[in-house]
Amino acid sequence: MTDKLIIFDTTLRDGEQSPGASMTREEKLRIARQLERLRVDVIEAGFAASSNGDFEAVKSIAAVIKDSTVCSLARANDRDISRAAEALKGAARSRIHTFIATSELHMEKKLRMTREQVFEQSKQAVRFARNLAADVEFSAEDGSRSDPDFLCRVIETVIAEGATTINIPDTVGYAVPEMYGAFIRSLRERVPNSDKAIWSVHCHNDLGMAVANSLAGVMLGGARQIECTINGLGERAGNCSLEEVVMALRTRRDHFGLEVGIDTTQIVPASRLVAQTTGFVVQPNKAVVGANAFAHASGIHQDGVLKARDTYEIMRAEDVGWSANKIVLGKLSGRNAFKQRLQELGIDMESEGEINAAFARFKDLADRKSDIFDEDIIALVSDESVTPTHEHYRLLALSQHSETGERPHAKVAFTAGEREFHAESDGNGPVDASLKALESQIKSGAEMLLYSVNAITSGSTESQGEVTVRLQHGGRVVNGVGADPDIVVASAKAYLSALNKLQSSAERVAAQG
Ligand code: KIV
Ligand code: ZN
Repeated sequence: MTDKLIIFDTTLRDGEQSPGASMTREEKLRIARQLERLRVDVIEAGFAASSNGDFEAVKSIAAVIKDSTVCSLARANDRDISRAAEALKGAARSRIHTFIATSELHMEKKLRMTREQVFEQSKQAVRFARNLAADVEFSAEDGSRSDPDFLCRVIETVIAEGATTINIPDTVGYAVPEMYGAFIRSLRERVPNSDKAIWSVHCHNDLGMAVANSLAGVMLGGARQIECTINGLGERAGNCSLEEVVMALRTRRDHFGLEVGIDTTQIVPASRLVAQTTGFVVQPNKAVVGANAFAHASGIHQDGVLKARDTYEIMRAEDVGWSANKIVLGKLSGRNAFKQRLQELGIDMESEGEINAAFARFKDLADRKSDIFDEDIIALVSDESVTPTHEHYRLLALSQHSETGERPHAKVAFTAGEREFHAESDGNGPVDASLKALESQIKSGAEMLLYSVNAITSGSTESQGEVTVRLQHGGRVVNGVGADPDIVVASAKAYLSALNKLQSSAERVAAQG
């Protein structure tokens, strides 16, 4: 057993499975680069067999990431595993992660397979994967609710077939820390070849115990890999949150005695990037990355912190990447200053064309907003129209009129592919009128599940509004995000961004299916 813990980030796979969190290839690539800067050991880039879009995303990430291992999920069958291997071909270091459910409930009701069939399929899948990759992870889905005798048999066999990591997911977030830790410990003690693989934990947060369970799996169970996501993104209540588990290990090194290779100063930038990309806003009181995580409101606390910081602070805000809102650029800043700031923020633009598009948007923003902060720049490059290849709908212009006692009215101009459209409508408010005007031409029929507005930088009405729109149509749920100093324009951009995602034809198969 080493005292180094492997941090396996699954924001781009399990995180992306959260309804509405699906990302484009470019968005995934941008997040993967940030995860590399964060120095995560393994990036689970996607589920290559689930759609052509995800295959391409895994392939692109494998091609550019050099310092982290790039991994693809695959169900325990030859087709999925071959697709994963194919997508990972160009990677400096790669891993195939194959899984099958092992609990009675999942085998009988979901897979409709017998124990023997699941046993055989696990064995064949790992054997097949090991012919294609040296690094193979096997996950026993719903492992924490599986019969330990059966699980031991499966695990012993897949290790004998060459699985290098054994993951015991708490798929439905049902475990409690002491039991989960003891469960993993007993599996490790009972499986004769257990020392030939690294053991891993993967905990969902349905009862709010994902971080505690993961740490128990490590401390009591002897696991040496934690699977987690930025902001705890993931199915239902999400996964173990990377920032929380890493900062627990760092802050309480005295207790845990384990090393992680994470550059913690990249945590807040990673959190912001994921939140802005997915539209899943971070709650203010979220540990480590919430806006209030380091804010001391009460007089007693403020007084204490001023006298001695450690009276109320157990971590330093700057150690996790918080910086006071800094004015970084303004309307007189040139292209070189802008490009340099992009580099400092770790934003790699693929081409000069992309930089030019982003710079044009920056100039446009700087004309309307005197101080440009880092958050504005991140929002600006997250804007789909900077990478126009995937953009079908694009807002050209919007005007609206609202007055006390009058019903608001909006006029919009936009393009759909090559064609230009103009439309107008009344509405309950200016946002409603604008979106109704768009919909009067587009006729998407999508149902709106969520509409939310946030200020990108706090403390001033000068801030850009960031709008998230969640739409549902034809069984798909997508989030669109738009930012602009004018929240009505931000709303129209967010709406079109969501429609652009619905337009993308990629069909997904369910990872847990
Ligand atoms: O939660 C889970 O069981 C999973 C597996 C596919 C690893 O995400
Ligand atoms: Zn999961």
